[in-house]
This record gives sequence, structure tokens and C-alpha cells, in this order.
Amino acid sequence: MADQKTLILVKPDGVARGLVGEVIARIERKGYRLEALELTTLERATAEEHYAEHTDKPFFGELVEFITSGPLVAMCVSGEDAITGMRTLMGATNPLEATPGSIRGDFATIIGENIVHGSDSPESAARELGIFFPGRF
Ligand code: RTP
Ligand code: MG
Repeated sequence: MADQKTLILVKPDGVARGLVGEVIARIERKGYRLEALELTTLERATAEEHYAEHTDKPFFGELVEFITSGPLVAMCVSGEDAITGMRTLMGATNPLEATPGSIRGDFATIIGENIVHGSDSPESAARELGIFFPGRF
């Protein structure tokens, strides 16, 4: 058990569909805390840095296009094992495989528009929080 901080994004599809409140409500109801929150539209360079691990993937171009297509909500979320816990709350990457009751399972149908992002390890969380909230965590 460890108190962790993780970067959570409500991606542009989630913001456009009015699901920000729904996502935040689930995070709070679970028992995690909001440490920081910002509505922002990413510059291309910031998006490429955030998704650096996917540079060589065939879907990289689409991914950057999509994540810069409109405002997103970036949050630092904290709590006991928050990195893994948030991934469970979000559901599988592909909404077809995401369990009903999870955010992606309840609100998404396609992998490219899956509502939320959550850091996948302590190293990713530190790196990603540094991009979105420089010098704060
Ligand atoms: P995320 O980073 O957004 O929290 O999602 P994840 O860890 O569950 O998935 P990851 O493998 O990091 O992929 C990042 C995002 O890329 C999109 N994707 N598209 N077309 C495809 O085959 C494909 N595969 C992944 C998804 O939107 C995924 O969230
Ligand atoms: Mg990921």
C-alpha cells in the first residue's frame, strides 16, 4: 500500500460530451482526492511529449490529432494505490473490453475515443505530472 499521485485526463471527447462532472464524481466517490485541476487545450508539442512512448505506433498521428482537438481537463489525483486504482475505475483501454461500471465500460464505444487517460506506473505518473503541472508534484 502506498499513497500515490497520478495524472488523470478527461480527454476532448469527454469534455465535449459533458462528462467532466461524471468522471470527477466517480473519482471523489471512490475516495481519491483532487490535488490540482485545469481545463486546457494542448499544443502539438506537449501532446507529442505526453504520448512519447507511442511515437512509433501506427496510431500516433491520430492520437496527437485527437488529444489536441479541443479542451481537456487535467487532474492530479491522489490516494492509496491511486495509479492502479484509477486504471481499474477507468476500465480497459478498448471500451469493448471495459467492464460495465467502469468509466470506459459505461460511456465509450471506440478505442480512439475512450474518455479518460490515467498514468500507468509511478514513473509515468511523475513524468506526466511534470508535463501538466510543472514543479508542483
Ligand atoms: P491512456 O494512456 O489514454 O490512459 O490509455 P491506456 O494506457 O489504456 O492505453 P495506451 O496503450 O497508453 O494507449 C493510449 C491511447 O491510444 C489510443 N489507442 N488507439 N487504434 C489503436 O489501436 C489504439 N490503441 C491505443 C487509445 O485512445 C489509448 O487510450
Ligand atoms: Mg497509456
